[in-house]
Amino acid sequence: MSDSIGRGADPDRIYHGLEGVLAGASAICDVEETNGGLFYRGYRIEDLAERASFEEVAYLLLMGKLPNRKELSAFSEELARSRPLPEAARRFLKTVSPTANPMDFLRTAVSFLGLDDPDRESNAHSENLRKAIRLIAQIPSLLAAFRSAPGEPPPSDPSLSHAANLLYLLTGRRPDPFSAKVMEVSLILYAEHEFNASTFAARVTASSLSDMHSAVTSAIGSLKGPLHGGANEAVMKMLLEIGGIENAERYIGKRLARKERIMGFGHRVLKQGDVRSKIIKKYAEELGERKKDRKWFDLSSRIEEKMRREKELYPNLDFYSASAYYLLGLPIEFDTPLFVCSRISGWSAHVMEQHDHNRLIRPRCFYTGPKDLPYLPIEHRS
Ligand SMILES: CC(C)(COP(=O)(O)OP(=O)(O)OC[C@H]1O[C@@H](n2cnc3c(N)ncnc32)[C@H](O)[C@@H]1OP(=O)(O)O)[C@@H](O)C(=O)NCCC(=O)NCCS
Repeated sequence: MSDSIGRGADPDRIYHGLEGVLAGASAICDVEETNGGLFYRGYRIEDLAERASFEEVAYLLLMGKLPNRKELSAFSEELARSRPLPEAARRFLKTVSPTANPMDFLRTAVSFLGLDDPDRESNAHSENLRKAIRLIAQIPSLLAAFRSAPGEPPPSDPSLSHAANLLYLLTGRRPDPFSAKVMEVSLILYAEHEFNASTFAARVTASSLSDMHSAVTSAIGSLKGPLHGGANEAVMKMLLEIGGIENAERYIGKRLARKERIMGFGHRVLKQGDVRSKIIKKYAEELGERKKDRKWFDLSSRIEEKMRREKELYPNLDFYSASAYYLLGLPIEFDTPLFVCSRISGWSAHVMEQHDHNRLIRPRCFYTGPKDLPYLPIEHRS
């Protein structure tokens, strides 16, 4: 054993990408590897997606139980009341270029929200909960303000649900009930998925006893990458590039032959498919029917068939979400920010759980570089 590796570390077992490592314990979410099943706080995702509102799910993730009618209405009112942006965020918005990447914008804007958060001095449970509610409420407002550059956020409609208001803010139109339902389901499906890269980034940051806003800023940076949240945008760009179902076989075949990745397929944990993908697929199809535009759904299904046949790879949640968002009239570069609007509920639940039962996250690495090199004075170096 190397001198550098001490207690508990086995240099023969390096877990690249931390694959298969149980890096902590959590009571928030259970992912079933074998059948792609998913439970939030014990509740099956199929039931939550069909029957709950996003507000109920956010409450469940944060508080650990489903709300009764009174609790839900108080929580929803608090969310709606918290939507207006604080002054520091409004000032920041005036300085942002409208051509900035929306994920870069959100990462910076959330950091700005932390500057004058009234509870910024504390990581206690009740203060973290208030911060979480403000973040869930204000991230959509930030996004809407950015969309309506030069920075005056359009007014929210307090009579609309979180999902319907989000669509209203981003499209400028009050959505029909089915469109609002698609957004609701999508927000529920994206809300939480245990130790994915962005949630783990949030927990690593929180584990040094840094604050909620710092942890969420880390998470947004991690989510941006195309191997994680950035995949939904990449999927829609690919569908547009393919153009139509008649080009699907050739396009995908060529990319696979070049050993390129097809975005929206595969998963580190779910190798046999993802129940969330099946749920959003159903909504994407019905949306296509209702909008009399099945083109993107049919093209996506053809790609799914090809990927299963050639690579035994299954679509993940991002794949059918991409065309659903497109048919809802949302700009493609807002697909990953929409993921943020949802996952903020899971991230903040994890930050609270980390702070409530903290141990610094600090793994080891196996050193592979040279050792004991002679130090040469600068004049002797080639
Ligand atoms: C998500 C992802 C990073 C998981 O990767 P992973 O667990 O590290 O799996 P690996 O990268 O080791 O891939 C295993 C094999 O499957 C292939 N593979 C995985 N995902 C693929 C994809 N989307 N398209 C084509 N091939 C893929 C890899 O090329 C590799 O093949 P090889 O063994 O012949 O080299 C990967 O599936 C991916 O890049 N998917 C596309 C991006 C995406 O949709 N991200 C959202 C995830 S929810």
